[in-house]
Amino acid sequence: MKTIGVLTSGGDAPGMNAAIRAVVRSAIYNNIKVMGIERGYNGLINGDIREMDLSSVGDIIHRGGTVLKTARSEEFKTEKGRKKALNVLKIFGIEGLVVIGGDGSFRGAEKLSQEGIKTIGIPGTIDNDLGYTDFTIGFDTAVNTVLDSISKIRDTSASHGRANIIEVMGRHCGDIALYSGLAGGAESVIVPEEDFSVDEICKKLIQGKNRGKLHSIIMLAEGIGNAFEIGKEIEEKTGIETRVTILGHVQRGGTPTAFDRILASKMGAKAVELLMKGSSGRVIGIKENKLVDMDIEEALSIEKIFDNETHELTKILSI
Ligand code: ADP
Ligand code: F6P
Repeated sequence: MKTIGVLTSGGDAPGMNAAIRAVVRSAIYNNIKVMGIERGYNGLINGDIREMDLSSVGDIIHRGGTVLKTARSEEFKTEKGRKKALNVLKIFGIEGLVVIGGDGSFRGAEKLSQEGIKTIGIPGTIDNDLGYTDFTIGFDTAVNTVLDSISKIRDTSASHGRANIIEVMGRHCGDIALYSGLAGGAESVIVPEEDFSVDEICKKLIQGKNRGKLHSIIMLAEGIGNAFEIGKEIEEKTGIETRVTILGHVQRGGTPTAFDRILASKMGAKAVELLMKGSSGRVIGIKENKLVDMDIEEALSIEKIFDNETHELTKILSI
């Protein structure tokens, strides 16, 4: 393999830069030329491609976002769009491609693999919504960002004797809400994977208030009802003043944690190793603290199992 490409696709995630750096440096170390493709599959279609050298990935390991930029490409979902992309790959002599993104990006990589381009996927998304891997790059940083906000909200919440609903990201996955909720001592964690009852939440708030609790944190994963309406209902039913904070895209930015940088560095190097071995249509994951690689289709068919035990623990520890 003489030349490989690397791109980031879908929602960005802290740690993507560390992964790009690892891909570029490992490839150059092994005498492979690396082309950086800008703005995901859009850049591939449009030929937004530049050669990366050792210094083009200098001073980025600690930065959030992605120096290659990212995008969602509708055109790439069409056969015509993918034909254009394949043509560009041929023109630039790119034989292998590392795709850093989520499940959608992996589906695109699988299609390219079927057309003879060797592709390897690295899981980069804050949502941690992929069943085949214990962790995705960016999740740990997002949880820590949310945790920092919980601590700040807790201060003001306790001063006023209020309840606070904190809405976090996760698309269809409750992991950010769950793990930041456990670490932040939340009273309730509302996730898409489990039914919830506002009355149960209210009961807990009243019990807490009666035993002198000064504040209550309710974590709410996005997409499950309207945070403001739930807040109003809680306020009406309990008489406890309730505020809502929607954290939004702040969760996607910021300097990656050590965990995410290490994970990204290892996965980036592994992607190059797999391409050198001639592997294609595979994704890298981490299972029980060991890097694994798996066929893309097989990986995407693995259902994400929600960690009920941890959810139960948040309930027990917040009685
Ligand atoms: P993520 O990778 O974070 O899940 P998306 O689902 O938005 O993000 O996917 C990123 C991009 O991957 C899409 O904009 C599209 O270009 C490409 N993609 C997604 N699904 C497919 C598909 N079935 N076939 C080809 N390309 C796809
Ligand atoms: O990166 C995943 C994610 O953060 C989801 O949790 C969220 O629903 C979505 O991206 C929002 O992304 P955007 O605003 O870029 O469409």
